[in-house]
Amino acid sequence: MSATRRARVRAVAKINLDLRVLARRPDGYHELRTILQTISLADTLEIAFTPGRKTIIALEDELTIPDNLVVRAARRAMEAMGAAGRVEMRLTKRIPMGAGLGGGSSDAAAVLLALPVLAGRIVSLRKLSEVAGELGSDVPFFLLGGRAVGIGRGTELFPLPDGPRARGVLVAPGVHVSTAEAYRALSPRLTTESPQNKIFSFQSHTWDRSVGEAAANDFEAVVFARHRRLAAVKKRLLRAGARPALMTGSGSAIFGLFGTGDEVSQAMELLGASGPHGEEAAFRISLVSRPRYRSLWWRALQEHITGRVWPPQSRHVR
Ligand code: C5P
Repeated sequence: MSATRRARVRAVAKINLDLRVLARRPDGYHELRTILQTISLADTLEIAFTPGRKTIIALEDELTIPDNLVVRAARRAMEAMGAAGRVEMRLTKRIPMGAGLGGGSSDAAAVLLALPVLAGRIVSLRKLSEVAGELGSDVPFFLLGGRAVGIGRGTELFPLPDGPRARGVLVAPGVHVSTAEAYRALSPRLTTESPQNKIFSFQSHTWDRSVGEAAANDFEAVVFARHRRLAAVKKRLLRAGARPALMTGSGSAIFGLFGTGDEVSQAMELLGASGPHGEEAAFRISLVSRPRYRSLWWRALQEHITGRVWPPQSRHVR
């Protein structure tokens, strides 16, 4: 019998329901206030672990993304576990890249959650969070899922209750925005509004269970100035009745939330009727609550886990 253990997991995307950038910090990162939310759009990661003397990490992905974060995540997970062996991964991408949807970060977090379970090791949530934060500012959120407030670099997370069921439309306009460049463009403008005002308006928003019209993303001004088409996408979503319609992360994807499935269908039709837009793609999305996020994980790993505990715990621990 082969000692190889396998799993196939879904790595879901995120949107920022609100995103305020306060100021550049001495470490070069920017101080954030954001609300993160997992959504139904997902990549698929197939991952296999075979114990061995040497660690070999292999990744198959159709797009051959250079320096893929999942490879680094696997290496860091192996180090954290003190384990050795072969890790084979295959990634099927559906989440658009450079779109502010955290696809690469979610893929990396998926490796951190799945690999210890397959290898029969226990890694504390604390250690996982630390490794996740080193891999990227958006990675730790995917160890939590659902809805959360992110502060600091975005890696300090506090769970929020799930909002009312909401569905939406996500438009990926086919524009790749570099996160580092978007921060560089935004940084000189950060002195115009007092950080205190931003904190108060952000805070009042987090107290509201629904995602109100007060939602804002500070990157919109600088990213829309460079890519005018994005402002038009937001306008079309608002006209279709989305509340809010907002860019996610540093762009370029724009989402619109709606109360009912019928409204989403209407919006999809309206978007389709507005003519072809090159590589623009529109997706129907739903918000993924924390219980649902965890269920997805437990189900995907069910033959390898014990109980329904978070993070998933391996039944192969000796
Ligand atoms: O952490 P991550 O690798 O995702 O960050 C990418 C880039 O985005 C950083 O190098 C930094 O320039 C910028 N960034 C920032 N402030 C944050 C998060 C990211 O300036 N809170």
